[in-house]
Amino acid sequence: MTHPNLRRLMSRGTDFLGCDYAIMCGAMSWVSERHLVSAISNAGGFGVIACGAMTPELLDKEIAATKEHTIKPFGVNLITMHPDLMELIAVCGRHKVTHIVLAGGLPPRGSIDAIRETGAKIICFAPALSLAKKLVRTGVDALVIEGMEAGGHIGPVSTSVLAQEILPEVADQLPVFVAGGIGRGRAIASYLEMGAAGVQLGTRFVCATESIAHENFKKAFFRASARDAVASVQVDPRLPVIPVRALKNKGTEAFTAKQREVAATLDEEKLEMSEAQLQIEHYWAGALRRAVIDGDVENGSLMAGQSVGMVTKEETAAEIIAALANEAETALAR
Ligand SMILES: Cc1cc2nc3c(=O)[nH]c(=O)nc-3n(C[C@H](O)[C@H](O)[C@H](O)COP(=O)(O)O)c2cc1C
Repeated sequence: MTHPNLRRLMSRGTDFLGCDYAIMCGAMSWVSERHLVSAISNAGGFGVIACGAMTPELLDKEIAATKEHTIKPFGVNLITMHPDLMELIAVCGRHKVTHIVLAGGLPPRGSIDAIRETGAKIICFAPALSLAKKLVRTGVDALVIEGMEAGGHIGPVSTSVLAQEILPEVADQLPVFVAGGIGRGRAIASYLEMGAAGVQLGTRFVCATESIAHENFKKAFFRASARDAVASVQVDPRLPVIPVRALKNKGTEAFTAKQREVAATLDEEKLEMSEAQLQIEHYWAGALRRAVIDGDVENGSLMAGQSVGMVTKEETAAEIIAALANEAETALAR
């Protein structure tokens, strides 16, 4: 058997996910669609479709298309504030999706029960110990703890601190997957040894051969180093924008201007706070599409984690997973 030490330490995660390696490719809006998701799952990892702002009809099509590319299990990531959340859950239910990841805050009332009724396992993000305990009590099946090194929307605490705080408290009660800043198998080995059931990576998979991200987007990743992946700043204390980690470009400045514009509309009382926050989220979705799909790496959003410096060339999903597994096994065997 290949990777005996790794497989032993990952067994809880692989039993839970139903795959060979407990390496999830975190959902990435516009990037995590049928091609990348199926490639990850076919390579023995666990792909997750990013539903993002998709309508129920689009999600229905995406799941069906992914199933045409793989017979292996994969998950669907739903954003809790999506106005059609319950309908999206129903779509997953009709397709018998085995795992649903809920992102973007505490699951709204009724959503956990609705997912449970479809038979899918529920995975939630826990950005702090208190929330992790609360989610365990709510009856979710697994947690992802994601540190601020990650790409995309981030919390305030680093992965290493979250892992030390949360794993000893809850890892004996349910599988916990560690995310944020993981670029090498050696880091995977150390989180497994700390009690994680597996890991979730995003940045490392963006430039996979099977990823549909625009060539310009991939080239920007190859050029970047860790310090280029910076967190957005909040310009108005009243407007609680969730920070986003992305490569610095003109789009970073445009976001600051967008916040000022939204804050001014708030001042004029033309806008409710919830609507203001939704406008900010729509802004990100549009900016990310511009960079990932259209290749506008100047003005679009180049969401990337600090591990971006470890992404230096295009490789297939299978090559990336094999490299991570080999590195982890070497570290564990030592
Ligand atoms: C380009 C990009 C887009 C992302 N979009 C989403 C998303 O739509 N939903 C979500 O839950 N996480 C999103 N993430 C976070 C990833 O799912 C994953 O948790 C994160 O990338 C892990 O950290 P890493 O980037 O350090 O590997 C995104 C990350 C990146 C890099």
